[in-house]
Amino acid sequence: MIVRPRRLRTSAAMRALVRETRVNLDGLVQPLFVVPGTGVVQPIGSMPGVSRYSVDAVVDECRELDAAGVRAVLLFGIPENAEKDAVATVNYDPNGIVQRAARAIKEALPQLLVIADLCNCEYTDHGHCGILDDAGDVDNDRTLAVLAKTALTYARAGVDIVAPSDMMDGRVAAIRHALDGEGFTKTAIMSYAAKYASAFYGPFREAADSTPAFGDRRSYQMDPANAREALKEVRLDVEEGADIVMVKPAMAYLDVVRAVREATDLPVAVYHVSGEYAMLKAAAERGWIEEERAVDETLTAIARAGADIIITYFAKDYLSRVRA
Ligand code: PBG
Repeated sequence: MIVRPRRLRTSAAMRALVRETRVNLDGLVQPLFVVPGTGVVQPIGSMPGVSRYSVDAVVDECRELDAAGVRAVLLFGIPENAEKDAVATVNYDPNGIVQRAARAIKEALPQLLVIADLCNCEYTDHGHCGILDDAGDVDNDRTLAVLAKTALTYARAGVDIVAPSDMMDGRVAAIRHALDGEGFTKTAIMSYAAKYASAFYGPFREAADSTPAFGDRRSYQMDPANAREALKEVRLDVEEGADIVMVKPAMAYLDVVRAVREATDLPVAVYHVSGEYAMLKAAAERGWIEEERAVDETLTAIARAGADIIITYFAKDYLSRVRA
């Protein structure tokens, strides 16, 4: 007798009946870039369909996201170049770009979760994620103080989740300690636990104006060759008090996602990054792949690998399509 697996593929209803993986529609996070000014909507060349918004315009965009069924946004602030300095002072300005955007969004849409990326690269004039020592290296422990101080200003502005993406050692503990010390025991931490030094951040650096002025990020972001080290980073962040751990990028790291899923009982977030978005968009624009099918397949694969939460520039489009 022939065993016939095809029997369960005979119709759409049959395939849906036995489908193993579904993307968590409530777990899709839309990243948003916020710039100074009013009425600003600036398309990003290397990320078709993605724009930078001023605070007023980002609130309008959040209304659309909310209507499309997006439950959470991830904010990136992009101050004027003239405001940047060597020690990221504008990052912890209580009236800084992220702080103002968070307040405005929470006031207009209290139910929308606001996550704030917590890093220094958009705020330093040298574009590195931390404070530099005399030799030009990122000084880990001085950077922790800036992250903790900044996290407090985000929490005061109503941010629900802070998401440190700098890859300094000990930052989760430093941030948790600072938040708890000021009574922000409810502010959650989603740590970019396994963040790799990746070529796939290219379009983001155009969007955020955060390319390092010299050198690269390999002394703090992880070597793409290492998977065991991801488990070590995750373990440390869990011990330090992270509420959610993240793997980034997505598609080239799905083995890491699976390993992290099996190593922790915390929710696992996966960041489908700018370069991954740009590749799909570019190929679809040329008619080389079908965008919708490719996006569905990609998000399903990330979920299948173990992601509970997927951060993706496709969140709005995808939810507009599948929730309709
Ligand atoms: C900031 C940060 C980066 C991304 C998220 N947070 C850039 C970097 O580390 O160079 C990348 C996001 C993307 O490519 O979509 N440190």
